[in-house]
Amino acid sequence: MLTQAKTEIRPVQWNGQFCVLIDQTVLPHSEKTIEIRTAEAMATAIKTMIVRGAPAIGVAAAFGMVLGAQEAQGDPLAHLEKVGALLKQTRPTAVNLFWAVDRMLNVAKALGPQALEAEAMAILEEDIRTCKAIGDHGLAVLPKTPNRLRLLTHCNAGALATAGYGTALGVVRSAWNANRLERVYADETRPRLQGARLTAWELVYDGIPVTVLADTMAAHCMGRGMIDAVVVGADRIAANGDAANKIGTCGVAILAKYFGIPFYVAAPWSTVDLALADGTAIPIEERSETEVRAIDGTVLCPSGAEIYNPAFDVTPAALITGIVTESGVFLPEKLASAAPKP
Ligand code: MRU
Repeated sequence: MLTQAKTEIRPVQWNGQFCVLIDQTVLPHSEKTIEIRTAEAMATAIKTMIVRGAPAIGVAAAFGMVLGAQEAQGDPLAHLEKVGALLKQTRPTAVNLFWAVDRMLNVAKALGPQALEAEAMAILEEDIRTCKAIGDHGLAVLPKTPNRLRLLTHCNAGALATAGYGTALGVVRSAWNANRLERVYADETRPRLQGARLTAWELVYDGIPVTVLADTMAAHCMGRGMIDAVVVGADRIAANGDAANKIGTCGVAILAKYFGIPFYVAAPWSTVDLALADGTAIPIEERSETEVRAIDGTVLCPSGAEIYNPAFDVTPAALITGIVTESGVFLPEKLASAAPKP
């Protein structure tokens, strides 16, 4: 269905009445969309990761607020506060979710609930423009190699994780469009396999060469000189530049430092949380033990074994070569002073 149309990947779409989400839980085996008609259904879609990735969650939550406004009876602002609280309970780490809900609540208070649909559309369209700017800024700082670039990424920070184009994969797309990319190495990203399932799917969809690696293989590839730079996304970046991203990212950053490979974090300003001094304050989501215990329903561990499943880790600023935003690339320690004034 999606592949036949060959349109640009848009994980969250609004048709004037309800939302249409690409169901990311069934890719790459099945390319299907799901209609989301209530705010509660949107909260469930975020929690169950039908839609995932920090900016995409923010966009989806914005439309959840639009759906909430449609459902309101009695005091619409009181209802929207409740819907906002419901959406904010879904996933704790990606700050874009909280940013989008608060932006929608502020608009509802200032202009009335009827202004929310246009605001959600603005958030969606801004995010695509933002990702394209991130892609171009990121490309400008990538190493100038004699051959085309081999980039490693972790998780999925692509079109599927944003309104479209992607952050880390935005840099990949800009490099590909400029004929500067040889291939992407995509860590499979256990336990949920966003790299193997989603990054690989969307790069194949766009005809960009991709090689999937088990997470254990990154050190080998770096040591063999197969990787020119690492580019990853982020779910929340603290004021000092510490960056939370999918579990495993910190390990990749440590490897990149050891092997002298530049490590870039690509994220919009809506992912930067200046209220948090450093990464220790970033809330880390813990998910169901089943994600680790089993793959596609096949149980791997003895039932007596306990499971720990933190969904994100924090990469210390000291391991990050630069943070790529829509307004330029910054050293982590310069991020806070470069932030746009509210
Ligand atoms: O648990 P997920 O799949 O929502 O985690 C996603 C990531 O960690 C992404 O790398 C991050 O949100 C950046 S998306 C542009």
